[in-house]
Amino acid sequence: MKNTYNLRSIAAIAIGQVLDNGQSLSTVLPELQRNINDKDKSLLQEICFGVLRYLPKLEWFINQLMDKPLTGKQRTLHYLIMVGIYQLLYTRIPAHAALAETVNGAVALKRPQLKGLINGVLRSFQRQQEQLEERNINNNSQYLHPTWLLKRLQNAYPDEWKAIVEANNQRPPMWLRANSQHNSASQYQQLLEEIGITSQLHPTHPSAICLSEPTSVTKLPGFEQGWSTVQDVSAQGCAELLEPRDNENILDLCAAPGGKTTHILELAPKANVLAVDIDENRLKRVKENLSRLQQHATVIQGDGTKPEEWAHGQQFDRILLDAPCSATGVIRRHPDIKWLRRDSDINELTELQSQILESVWPYLKIGGTLVYATCSVMPEENSLQIQKFLAKHSDAVLNDGTTAGLQILPNTTGGDGFFYARLIKLAN
Ligand SMILES: C[S@@+](CC[C@H](N)C(=O)[O-])C[C@H]1O[C@@H](n2cnc3c(N)ncnc32)[C@H](O)[C@@H]1O
Repeated sequence: MKNTYNLRSIAAIAIGQVLDNGQSLSTVLPELQRNINDKDKSLLQEICFGVLRYLPKLEWFINQLMDKPLTGKQRTLHYLIMVGIYQLLYTRIPAHAALAETVNGAVALKRPQLKGLINGVLRSFQRQQEQLEERNINNNSQYLHPTWLLKRLQNAYPDEWKAIVEANNQRPPMWLRANSQHNSASQYQQLLEEIGITSQLHPTHPSAICLSEPTSVTKLPGFEQGWSTVQDVSAQGCAELLEPRDNENILDLCAAPGGKTTHILELAPKANVLAVDIDENRLKRVKENLSRLQQHATVIQGDGTKPEEWAHGQQFDRILLDAPCSATGVIRRHPDIKWLRRDSDINELTELQSQILESVWPYLKIGGTLVYATCSVMPEENSLQIQKFLAKHSDAVLNDGTTAGLQILPNTTGGDGFFYARLIKLAN
């Protein structure tokens, strides 16, 4: 049966909701792809993620091809043209099919009168593709990042910024965490091998497995029974560094969607874990994850800056604070971050992180461990944050072998950009 929807027009709408309404792709896509078959869902995702990954370059091409970009009520058609150019450049969809489907998108978007214009722009792109690509090399849009972010990366990493940018522009690998309560990573790798999924283990992260090709979780052995979890190898470092033990009181603060809550319980199944997050909706995912892994934790909605409202005087042996952050370490997984974040967000987030860290510190027992983590590469949110905290708190010391925490960059280990610092509380 022929589809009744036009996938390219849906992609253009999704891109518009990110760029014009500031919504994230992970919010927009589930809504828009409700009535779409599975094969088309993958293509829709590929196109949306791809367009947002290559946005400045696609924008630059359109500027070369059109006197005036489409604006106002016709803006979605501008995104439709991007969808068309993206397919021609970066997918294996035959050009004639990519063109026909994209041009028809104008009808689905109730602008049939623009079919000719869209067809014309895409055909001129095809004719001029080689020259346009050559000219684009000497242009800042080749880095595919907003200027403010490029500047920050250049300042923070004068020698490495290009490598970071390049890593951000790659498609991310799919990492799994084998549930050590069921299988070691090498045993799980064997199970994958048996069904034709090839993978690699990580030399230092004991549960991490990198798949040679991303695959649907429905194909993973025992996924529904909790034998494995999709989690980047860098994120796996948080619970490892926390070193949770059975029977301890552990606070997982900023816990949703629960990737690290379940890891803590894999490492210490009898720990008393309290998972707290401010976002009620995202907490549903924590409960789903716990239930899939058949684990138990207390899950409550609460503000990290106000532990007096939910901690009820409890003290914790360990605290994992996976702080809200700019997510500048996970751009390869979420290219929309480049267009959703603003320069001013960095200072605001730094302030929020500092407030949460200060508020929760009194709830850590003497001798207890607090792991502060972010998926950011900005020093303000990471090493500078920790230095500032240490300068203020004589009862806090780092004990992770570093002087200001460990910054992982996305171009170094195969994992996402991440930061962790392990603090110990001294008796004062
Ligand atoms: C990096 S995510 C956490 C990821 C999670 N730890 C995991 O491994 O799946 C940051 C979380 O902080 C939460 N958050 C933001 N502001 C908060 C606040 N003031 N108090 C508590 N949680 C907050 C967000 O809702 C978001 O779920």
